[in-house]
Amino acid sequence: MRIGTNVNKAASLLKSGEIVAIPTETVYGLAANALSETVVAKIFSAKQRPSFAPLIIHLPSLDNIDDYAKAIPDGLKSIMADHMPGPLTVLLEKKEVIPDITTAGLNRVAVRIPQHAEARELLSQLDFPLAAPSANPFGYISPTTAQHVADQLGDQVSYILDGGSCEVGLESTIIGIEEGRPTVFRKGGLSMDIVREYLPEVIVRDHSTSNPSAPGMLKSHYAPTIPLRLVKSFTFDEVRVGYISFGEDLSISDDSVCYNLSSNKDFREAAQNLFKVMRSLDHLDLSELQVKLLPEEDLGIAINDRLRRAAVG
Ligand code: TXA
Ligand code: MG
Repeated sequence: MRIGTNVNKAASLLKSGEIVAIPTETVYGLAANALSETVVAKIFSAKQRPSFAPLIIHLPSLDNIDDYAKAIPDGLKSIMADHMPGPLTVLLEKKEVIPDITTAGLNRVAVRIPQHAEARELLSQLDFPLAAPSANPFGYISPTTAQHVADQLGDQVSYILDGGSCEVGLESTIIGIEEGRPTVFRKGGLSMDIVREYLPEVIVRDHSTSNPSAPGMLKSHYAPTIPLRLVKSFTFDEVRVGYISFGEDLSISDDSVCYNLSSNKDFREAAQNLFKVMRSLDHLDLSELQVKLLPEEDLGIAINDRLRRAAVG
């Protein structure tokens, strides 16, 4: 059985250089020893990920950061103290021990400490960090259940550690210091409201296809196979449509489907459901998906970011 809940088994496979899919509170990751070049190379090929795309390393606790990163910038200390573990990733100057392949040749390493109980238990059994990109084929929607991983990458991993459905459901927020200023490189599971409490001057780097070192910033990413259209209001015509709503229950024809991200317009619930809903709709025989952007606040900001990237045109 490839899917299971045996943390010890996951740990021993990782120790012997295998790839294991692991749960985190954001999304599932495709994990392997971040310190081994040959093992990290396997992640890139399993995910069909271009080698210019750096990986995040996962640690059991803040105490371990000094082993892998040089000084922590003062500006990041307080948000790190309060939100690591959590859905936050920080970019820090790397130490030699992190091989270039892990950071795609960059001298900064992305570091995350997951909050998820089994992920922490697993990491605490290892004497190396885990490099883990989201466990989806490059460019597709991130997985938020063990079954999502099995559906697409089941053959590529030795084991899928099942830690249930991801509580946050969006990838981590990535921050770093860029030219002396705190910068968000990817909006994510730690809301922008919280980030601004700590870093009122924070800059948000706009995505750019000319910056291949940060593929989460590429414009077309997180995309379903069925074309997804952003609309101001839903249209109802002949074609079979999958509607993704936020708080609205649409009455629609038999052929079409409507999934409500959250009946009571709860951003956290919507974030939890977003990728699941996109994946479920992507399995149906539909001509297109329609979705309206959420209010640009709280986790709506990160959700809208993903929707814009998933959208066609
Ligand atoms: O929530 C998450 O962050 C999940 C879970 C598994 O931890 N991981 C994840 O990894 O989303 P991935 O590989 O799908 O996205 C990592 C993002 C990419 O956009 C990558 O470019 C950026 O992090 N990144 C990683 N290392 C970087 C670095 N050294 N400098 C700049 N960006 C970096
Ligand atoms: Mg990803």
